[in-house]
Amino acid sequence: MSSILVTGANGQLGREFQVLAERYAGFAFTFTNRQVLDVTDEPAVFQFFTHNRFDYCINCAAYTAVDRAESEPDAARLGNVDAARWLAEGCARQGIPLIHYSSDYVYHNAQNIPLQEGDATTPRSVYAITKLEGEQAVRASNPLTMILRTSWVYSSFGHNFVKTMLRLGRERESLGVVFDQVGSPTYARGLAQATLDILTKVDKGEVPKELLSGIYHYSDEGVCSWYDFALAIFEIAGIDCKVLPIETKDYPLPAHRPPYSVLNKSKIKAVWGLELKHWRERLRECLGVIAKT
Ligand SMILES: NC(=O)c1ccc[n+]([C@@H]2O[C@H](COP(=O)([O-])OP(=O)(O)OC[C@H]3O[C@@H](n4cnc5c(N)ncnc54)[C@H](OP(=O)(O)O)[C@@H]3O)[C@@H](O)[C@H]2O)c1
Repeated sequence: MSSILVTGANGQLGREFQVLAERYAGFAFTFTNRQVLDVTDEPAVFQFFTHNRFDYCINCAAYTAVDRAESEPDAARLGNVDAARWLAEGCARQGIPLIHYSSDYVYHNAQNIPLQEGDATTPRSVYAITKLEGEQAVRASNPLTMILRTSWVYSSFGHNFVKTMLRLGRERESLGVVFDQVGSPTYARGLAQATLDILTKVDKGEVPKELLSGIYHYSDEGVCSWYDFALAIFEIAGIDCKVLPIETKDYPLPAHRPPYSVLNKSKIKAVWGLELKHWRERLRECLGVIAKT
């Protein structure tokens, strides 16, 4: 049986891998959180790889506080660049593939054509810059790294836009949400599932593992603004809260966000035969899970 190490396993995405583990019984999973494996502790990372062997590593650990990163660039770089490099080196020493997640924020674009993997990267925030540098570091350290650039990730776990909207929508009669940032939401469970479907194909020899190498886009299908997303959350959850479209300039935050970050997913669908669901369908799925908790 092939083994998978999942780092940062207490985050949104990491928790979804834990939920899915029993459905992927062909893999033996090892889940590590910060207490078990602090990925910013270089000696600890190398020691971990010396004492444990795996067939694949999925890195869900990252510095994800987008706004705080503006005032903590060193911490962001340690978590998103150095730690990622050390993990990639650990994987390279074992000759195993690394799956690493990056962000739509590496693009900062005012175009309205979905972004392709080869498009120019123009990160404008500390978080985005460190995610891009992290990509470069992992690719240099382990050529057998799959980088999944994803966007607007949410889950029933952790802190995210969907859970914030559910809370605020129940507290307030109306809410201003930006309409001039457009992208595609991603239910973390779908992303975890896609990752495991890809590794299953590699593991069964259906697709050569070399095809893991490189950058792929993943999000749910469809496009919306945060305003549209909030409207859909309230509609599906049956929350009576008026959503007012506001401009980004009227909701200032420390970190710049790209105005348009819709990812073109043609590559991942073609190479790995994935069928992606529309974001509304995924949102219903997640809200169903939240309603049961
Ligand atoms: N969330 C989004 O909207 C979004 C969008 C695009 C891309 N991404 C990328 O997707 C990936 C997964 O994101 P997510 O939403 O699941 O993030 P998340 O919920 O913030 O989870 C990140 C996890 O990493 C852990 N972590 C941080 N530093 C660590 C360390 N030194 N050692 C071990 N674990 C550490 C955190 O642990 P603690 O809880 O202990 O801090 C947390 O459990 C990340 O690479 C992120 O950059 C996310």
